[in-house]
Formats: sequence, C-alpha cells, structure tokens
Amino acid sequence: IPVEPFDLVIFGGTGDLARRKILPGLFRRYCSGQMPSDARIIGAARTDMDDAGFRDMVAAAIREFGGGRSCDDGTLDGFLERVGYVAVDAKGEGGWKELASRMRDEVPVRAFYFSVGPSLFGDLAERLHSFGLASEQSRIVVEKPFGHDLETAKALNATLAKHFDEEQIYRIDHYLGKETVQNLMAVRFGNMLFEPLWNAQYVDHIQITVAETVGVGGRGGYYDKSGAMRDMVQNHLMQLLCLIAMEPPARFEPNAVRDEKLKVIRALDPVLPHHIVRGQYAKQGDEPDYRTDVENPRSSTESFVAMKCHVSNWRWANTPFYIRTGKKLRARASEIAVVFKDAPHSIFGEEAGRHSNVLSIRLQPNEGMTLGVTIKEPGPGGMRLMDVPLDMSFAEEFGPEAEEVPDAYERLIMDVIRGNQTLFMRGDEVEAAWAWTDPIIEGWQKRGDFPKPYDVGSAGPEDSLMLMHRDGRKWREIKD
Ligand code: BG6
Repeated sequence: IPVEPFDLVIFGGTGDLARRKILPGLFRRYCSGQMPSDARIIGAARTDMDDAGFRDMVAAAIREFGGGRSCDDGTLDGFLERVGYVAVDAKGEGGWKELASRMRDEVPVRAFYFSVGPSLFGDLAERLHSFGLASEQSRIVVEKPFGHDLETAKALNATLAKHFDEEQIYRIDHYLGKETVQNLMAVRFGNMLFEPLWNAQYVDHIQITVAETVGVGGRGGYYDKSGAMRDMVQNHLMQLLCLIAMEPPARFEPNAVRDEKLKVIRALDPVLPHHIVRGQYAKQGDEPDYRTDVENPRSSTESFVAMKCHVSNWRWANTPFYIRTGKKLRARASEIAVVFKDAPHSIFGEEAGRHSNVLSIRLQPNEGMTLGVTIKEPGPGGMRLMDVPLDMSFAEEFGPEAEEVPDAYERLIMDVIRGNQTLFMRGDEVEAAWAWTDPIIEGWQKRGDFPKPYDVGSAGPEDSLMLMHRDGRKWREIKD
C-alpha cells in the first residue's frame, strides 16, 4: 500500500526509544523504498541542538541499532536529508512557532509521536492546538505505560480527548506489530482447519508464555513502580489473549477487530488469589537480585507473574487460559500453545499411549508454528502411538526474506502514516484492561503479599509449576 507524503514530529526525539526503535525503523522503511521522497522527520526535544547535530545523533543511532541493514553512506545521507530538529519546551512557549513554521501545509499527513512520559501528553496536545500545528487530519501516537491504573488511564484518555478524536489517537502496543502476532489472526481466520475446533468443546486449555532473560537493570525506577503485571500483563499478554480468544471480526478493520477484543476483556472473570503466583528473581552467584537491580531492598514488586484466567462466555466456558511472564528466566522464548483435548476414545487401547494435539505458535525468537500430531511409532512392534511435530519455521520457509520482516515499530509507524488503527488499542480497550487488572493488584496490596523468590535462569517460582500440576496439567518448557 503506497504511503502518502508526511511530516512526522517525534517528541522525545533524542530519547532512548527514538534512538533504539523509531529512527532505525524509519530508516529501514527508507531502505526498502517504502518512504515517499518528500517525507520529513523532525526530532523535537528540550536539548538545544541544530539539524546537523541531530542528524549526527540519528546516524549514530542507526549504526548502533539499525539491525544489520546494509547502510552505505549514500543511503544514510539520503535518509538524513529528510531529518531535522527543533528544540521545543513541552511545558512552555519555546520552539513552538519554529516547529509550526517547519510544517508543510500541502503535505497530507501530519503525525506527532509522543515518545515522552505520560505526564507531558496533556501539555503537548494542548500546544499542538494553541500553536495551530494540529489539523483534523493530524494523528498522535502514544506509548505505554498508558496509565498506572484505571483512574489514571481514564484521566489520560480525557486529556487527549480534549484535543483529538479517537480516530486520531494511536496507542501503541508493540506486540501487535510483531509479525507472528499478526500471523495468529491469519492462522485462525485464514484456514478452515482450526476455527471449528477453537472452543471449549475441543480445547483443553491455552498457555501463553512471554519469557525474558533480561533483568530490569537500568530502568529500575520505572519498573519497581509497575511490576510484571502492569508492565507486561495489562497490555502485551492481554492483547495476545484477546487475539486467541476473540470471535471472528466481520472484517480486518480497526473497529471490527477492537470491538471483538474488548468483548474478551469484559468477559474475563476476576482472578482468584490462589490462581496467581508472583515471583521476584533472587541473587545467584555474581548475578544481582531484583532488589539490588531496582535499588530498593524491601521491594515487593513482582518480576514474574503466572495466573489462571477464565473468559466467561459461550465459546470458552471452563477452558483455562494460563499465562505467565517474567524477567531473568531460562530463555528468551515467547509462545502461545493451544492444547487440544484427548481423542474421546482410544481404539488402540490405553497401552498404545495417548498424545494431545498441541498447536504452538512461537512468537520470538525463531518465529514459527508447530502442530503436534499423533502417528504410529514406526517399526514392527505393534500399534504404539507417538507425537510428531508438523513444523513451520519462518527462517526455513522464507530463508533470507525472513530477515527482512519489518520490526514491530517499523510496521506500526507506517500504519500511523497510512491511517490504519487496526493494530492500535482503543481507549475503551485500555480502560477495560485496567478495570480487570486493578483489583488483582489491590488484592496484593491489601494482603501485604510478597512475591516468591526464584532462581535466575529458572522457569520461575515452584508455585507456578504447582498452578498447573494441581489441575493435572504442565507448562511447556521454556527453551531457546
Ligand atoms: C516492554 C516492557 O513493553 O516490552 C519491557 O516494558 C519488556 O519490560 C519489553 O522487556 C519486551 O518486548 P520484546 O519486544 O523484547 O518482547
């Protein structure tokens, strides 16, 4: 789909996210020939800097985080010609007139990326209007954390709504931009094979795992006030759960998809305290523990959470969704597994063995999909059954092209320019997610609940294994 010429202003243009993700992502789109020749990108931040200074910073960021794109100087120079900078005071008057003068009236798309803390959203939105930068076609992009709880999320939505319509607001959840996350929808709704079985009658349970090996060093200040529940579950895992559980939308269009996701969130039961396990990584050898990383010796914030959830509707009645995420675990591995029920009767007798079909969608790394199928064990030894994987690995299937798959940010920024909100969260969705999360966190606070310690490099606390064992089930292995 062609991209119209655009002016993109990145507030927080000198910040970490801009340097790591936004600017390299834009550069990769440029390299793929998907950026119109008259696109312009303007960094805006407090730092006093001229265009040349910012271009140097952008060039350095692309070299460091460009993701191995061949970036000869000619290509990079071509990209940098489109880049400029204006020093802007988000809370004052400074720089706004100059920024306004850089905007081109004839350019159809104007987008403003708020890559700054939420406390500045209101100031930016207000000034975009008072200095005449925003028009009806303008779009703003906002990042998580979108609120700290329901109340603050509502306040943020209300602040943005003063100046922008919902159709102009793009709330990013970068998980929705991941290739395999979108593949989830393709698998479900592009095949006849799975959807008829995608319900409580045939599915025993669903597992969603987002395991990380990184700790929280470097961003302890933010993380210790959030924890895994706010940082990962309320947004990323919730979105994955929605895509798995939702009804088929009539069209792959923003409101059709988001209406269905919202229904899932609203159908989630409150989670019982004994269906949740919180964990915090403990000291091991030279590896510091969580509390050292966040410099808070008494922290009761969780760096791991596992829970059993229920989507109370006709499709999913009594089918548990087990979800877990944590830092400093055994491997970086994110996977969704749909575990089907056993065949109702074994014609081969129990001694032949039984295996349930599992559809596993590997989100990252080594993106791919595996369907476990039961076959006869080869050989003359009678009818013994075994489980074999039907495997699809992106890298094997698409070869070097798999390397070219756009990064989540790259895709999402281009969707903003195209004006496609399908992969962005609507205000009511975010609020519904907080409405479900808040009582869980309040419960922990009321009970003075402390997370269980777990070893760095493990699969989380023992209790998390028990969460499954109690139900006669087992987590899938976390492995590279
Ligand atoms: C971010 C969280 O939203 O997602 C981080 O704030 C987390 O704590 C990150 O590490 C994970 O993203 P990815 O794309 O590396 O899985």
